[in-house]
Amino acid sequence: MGASGGGVRKVVDCRVCGGTDWQEVVSFGPVPLANGFLDPTDSYDGEPYYPLGVISCRSCRLLSVTHIVDPEILYRDYPYVTSDSDTITRHMRYVADTCRERFGLSPGSFVVEVGSNTGSQLMPFQDAGMRVLGVDPARNLARVAAERGVETLPDFFSAETASAIARGHGRARLILARHVFAHIDHVAGVVQGVRGLLSEEGVFAVEVPYLLDLFGQNAFDTIYHEHLSYFSVGTLVSLFERHGMRLFDVERLAVHGGSILVFVQRDDGPWPVRPAVGELLELERRAELDGDAVYRDFALNVDRVRDELPALVRRLAAEGKRIAGYGASAKGNTILNVCGFRPGELEFCSDTTSLKQGKVLPGTHVPVCSPEYAKAHAPDYYLLLAWNYSDEILRKEAGFLSGGGRFIRPIPKPVVVSADAL
Ligand code: TYD
Ligand code: ZN
Repeated sequence: MGASGGGVRKVVDCRVCGGTDWQEVVSFGPVPLANGFLDPTDSYDGEPYYPLGVISCRSCRLLSVTHIVDPEILYRDYPYVTSDSDTITRHMRYVADTCRERFGLSPGSFVVEVGSNTGSQLMPFQDAGMRVLGVDPARNLARVAAERGVETLPDFFSAETASAIARGHGRARLILARHVFAHIDHVAGVVQGVRGLLSEEGVFAVEVPYLLDLFGQNAFDTIYHEHLSYFSVGTLVSLFERHGMRLFDVERLAVHGGSILVFVQRDDGPWPVRPAVGELLELERRAELDGDAVYRDFALNVDRVRDELPALVRRLAAEGKRIAGYGASAKGNTILNVCGFRPGELEFCSDTTSLKQGKVLPGTHVPVCSPEYAKAHAPDYYLLLAWNYSDEILRKEAGFLSGGGRFIRPIPKPVVVSADAL
């Protein structure tokens, strides 16, 4: 293990309700950053490790990470590029169409995206003649977005940036925040900023991983330092209420292992509250998210994978099988590190992202290679670290499977997938 990193602090007050009565849920000990890819020439001795675990607020049932790493360390130079996979491209198109049709956006409407990455989600709006502005603190990504023609402010979104945007561009009809809200510590400031930037009929569309899917899929690998919060609809309703906003609709989505897209307006906004909100609140009541037991059960399911997955991989290796990783996802790094995989246990990890190729995975130092390299050196088994794209990947790798290759799907519990399972 490398050095224990500075720039980290323990969570004391709940970022949604201010409560301090926490239930301990899981604790993984010190873990390197899930997107902390290294160069093979780096000294691994200095690799920073930070404590990782989750706790549940007994007042509002926010599930929070135990320790917060300084966002300047996490995001200023960020290797995560929004995927251009079929699944995500289709999803972004769906989000754009839904928002346009439902909320009466038209050419000239102003659309802002928080955590806009390389601008892909804003492009369909821009193509439809709307004014768009991205906000993203990763300077490397903001530059790429600007080169692609999407105006992007290279900064963290806050109440201050929001009022500067309102002064410079006017109020927004739509503010998007896809898979970024869970990354934000000062949620109160962001929600206040959003409230000030929205026009009267404006909508804040927030997509986050869904707490019930985290439990249902046992997706503990989405627990890493970047994800500070895991939300239920109930917790989001109370968060927005505190800041003069109303959550009026919600959709469940399959992306990223199970997410919700919630629509929020100012409390003086015009949109009627849809039945889906009450339905999910009822589902959460029946799942007893307000009691301790469901969190204890989750911890047991996590422990089972932490035992069974390394045992399976080591048994196959002992039989002489060659094993590699498929998809150098942040989730995958979490699986490898919290399950205690060691350098050398995976021969390589294939990934389509050119920024990751040639690097090594954090903690396990497995070399990341291109799909072309992987194809030429196909192993016996791929550990499917990007399991959220399971369908797309199994379809793409039909040839590998029909040639006798196998996948290990790690979650919800480890299973081997061969051609006859298709
Ligand atoms: P992703 O799901 O985007 O998320 P996270 O890093 O938040 O866990 O990671 C998927 C990774 O898998 C990404 O680096 C791209 C890679 N990938 C492939 O290598 N091949 C594929 O066919 C797909 C769909 C993804
Ligand atoms: Zn709370």
